[in-house]
Amino acid sequence: MVDVDSFIEDAVAEIDEQVGDDNAIIALSGGVDSSTAAALAYEAVGSQLTPVYVDTGLMRKGETEEIRETFSYMESLRIVEAQDRFLGALEGITDPEEKRHVIGEQFIREFETVAKEEDADVLVQGTIYPDRIESEGTIKSHHNVGGLPDVVDFDRIVEPMRDLYKDEVREVARELGLDAIISERMPFPGPGLAVRIVGEVTEEKVEVAREATHVVEAELEEYDPWQAFAAVLGRATGVKGDNRVHGHVVAVRSVESRDGMTARAQELDWETLQRIQSRITGQLDNVSRVVYDVTHKPPATIEYE
Ligand code: XMP
Repeated sequence: MVDVDSFIEDAVAEIDEQVGDDNAIIALSGGVDSSTAAALAYEAVGSQLTPVYVDTGLMRKGETEEIRETFSYMESLRIVEAQDRFLGALEGITDPEEKRHVIGEQFIREFETVAKEEDADVLVQGTIYPDRIESEGTIKSHHNVGGLPDVVDFDRIVEPMRDLYKDEVREVARELGLDAIISERMPFPGPGLAVRIVGEVTEEKVEVAREATHVVEAELEEYDPWQAFAAVLGRATGVKGDNRVHGHVVAVRSVESRDGMTARAQELDWETLQRIQSRITGQLDNVSRVVYDVTHKPPATIEYE
């Protein structure tokens, strides 16, 4: 990207031209990419754009409230409360790709309902350069909104940030005045906490992943990781008070990366790791063990599923 200001000017002009007098829609995930794309599109066409945020119940702690607040200036914002429908659809599913598929399908269904109600002709997407590279390969069925255009019939699709890297998107977000909570936020996968739970997704495990991730994000902010989070791996025996418990094993992961395609596990100091462990096991009765993941990508991936 040559220059942030001229990028914004060109992107706004492109969106304006593509949307014309029609209605546009964008899926807002809470991440920096879709938030920035939404801010650009809103600047271009105002309330002709409907930003849609679907609360899947797999979001980070406080994320829905943050979205509501940050984007309250967009009168057309729609928040869809779909937590129960997502958890219901995920019942009994353990295969990682099937999980992604089920979440993607459910997401499309929710989004399609709003797109029809709003009579949207144009889809705006926050796709960035690395997304295009990864989805051309066969690594994973990434980007759960990637399937949208195949299912919902849009006249046009606008991807104003298709050539940007993540750090460039953050620059644009700052320039647009987006809240730091959004512009500096770590990337978060489309399927949300579901890919940080190994095996079946249950409400209890989601709650563990959410609370533990909140601790990890706060404790590791000073390390400035690309992503830092907690995952729920399975169960192991531990002792809590006078009782032996068969609690959840929580993995802490913190990685450096430029684009998520490769990553290095971060070197953390022992006190920080111990503080994380003690906060997580102290706060969550049903967690008996916390481990730190030292694996780079490759051979591991960043997420667990
Ligand atoms: P992995 O786990 O493949 O993750 O090393 C690389 C980057 O992609 C994010 N990620 C996803 N994003 N849908 C998404 O939109 C997905 O299904 C998905 N899986 C992983 C991950 O958070 C990391 O930044």
